[in-house]
Amino acid sequence: MKKHKIYMVGCGGMLGEAFFEKYRQDYELKCTDIDVNEDWLSYLDFRDADAYKTDVKNFRPDWLFHLGAYTDLEYCELHEEVTYITNTESVKYAVKIANGLNIPILYISTAGIFDGIKDVYDESDTPNPIGHYGKSKYFGEKFVIENAKEYLICRAGWMMGGGPKKDKKFIQKIMKQIKNGKKELHIVNDKLGTPTYTHDFATNVKLLIEKGERGLFNMVCGGFTGRFEVATELVRLLDLQDDIKITEVNSDYFAKEYFADRPACERLINKKLDDLRLNIMRDWKVALKDYLNNYYSAYLSHSEFL
Ligand SMILES: NC(=O)c1ccc[n+]([C@@H]2O[C@H](COP(=O)([O-])OP(=O)(O)OC[C@H]3O[C@@H](n4cnc5c(N)ncnc54)[C@H](OP(=O)(O)O)[C@@H]3O)[C@@H](O)[C@H]2O)c1
Repeated sequence: MKKHKIYMVGCGGMLGEAFFEKYRQDYELKCTDIDVNEDWLSYLDFRDADAYKTDVKNFRPDWLFHLGAYTDLEYCELHEEVTYITNTESVKYAVKIANGLNIPILYISTAGIFDGIKDVYDESDTPNPIGHYGKSKYFGEKFVIENAKEYLICRAGWMMGGGPKKDKKFIQKIMKQIKNGKKELHIVNDKLGTPTYTHDFATNVKLLIEKGERGLFNMVCGGFTGRFEVATELVRLLDLQDDIKITEVNSDYFAKEYFADRPACERLINKKLDDLRLNIMRDWKVALKDYLNNYYSAYLSHSEFL
């Protein structure tokens, strides 16, 4: 049987790597990025509307996955204009391309579009982003909802994936400190959220596609947690709890380094996935263990760190 075709942009990062892995068997893929860091990637800057349109049209896909964005909150606060061009304007190009080809678009949104005042957010809550990253992503989401003929929007939480090579986020930042010999970790106790393992996310999106679902979905791992508990669990899984001290601090401690405002609570629940009985996201602790086994096995014998 002829495989369906998917064009994936911004596919060279944490999430793109998992998408490539999970879809390459069953679909014919074209994967592009501005950073061509794999032999299965080719170059495309999705802010170049003409190049984007031409490349997608030439591939004639059945789906357009618009994956990439600038995700560094501090960078986004400092580079407002390029953030909106990259995270919002390019989404407009993507929607126009998908509409022109009469194909559905997948857009990746974020828990960071909420203001963090509530304890937990489902799909019926109204976003109220507090910084340029969150705003740029929310404007993209809104544009897709209002303009795409057919779409899936999946909102991720605290992404974990890609390992030492690609993970730009919390887990790798902690792993790096441990590898560099730090014996005390300072971890914030005032930021709540839901980890999201890239492989679970890619697999759950695949299920939605195979079931023909469309619309907006929260898609995070199970369980409610916060940065402090995630770091504690990470150290426990590494069997380093007797060697590494974890000191609770509040966000003021990192005010200089992480100066972008972050919502106090970014906890999502996958209400729509639950309602449809299509929630296959695992508990975050199970996913974290799997992540470490899959990407950090060399680090898992804790002698590596001592
Ligand atoms: N990371 C998270 O915690 C998180 C949470 C929720 C949602 N999301 C969303 O998930 C999606 C994937 O993010 P990720 O975590 O995989 O980020 P990532 O690791 O930074 O990957 C994004 C990729 O897109 C590329 N890119 C940036 N601008 C581009 C452009 N103009 N043209 C082509 N490629 C471009 C990046 O290249 P460079 O590295 O050179 O910039 C990078 O390779 C994004 O839409 C993000 O907003 C992420």
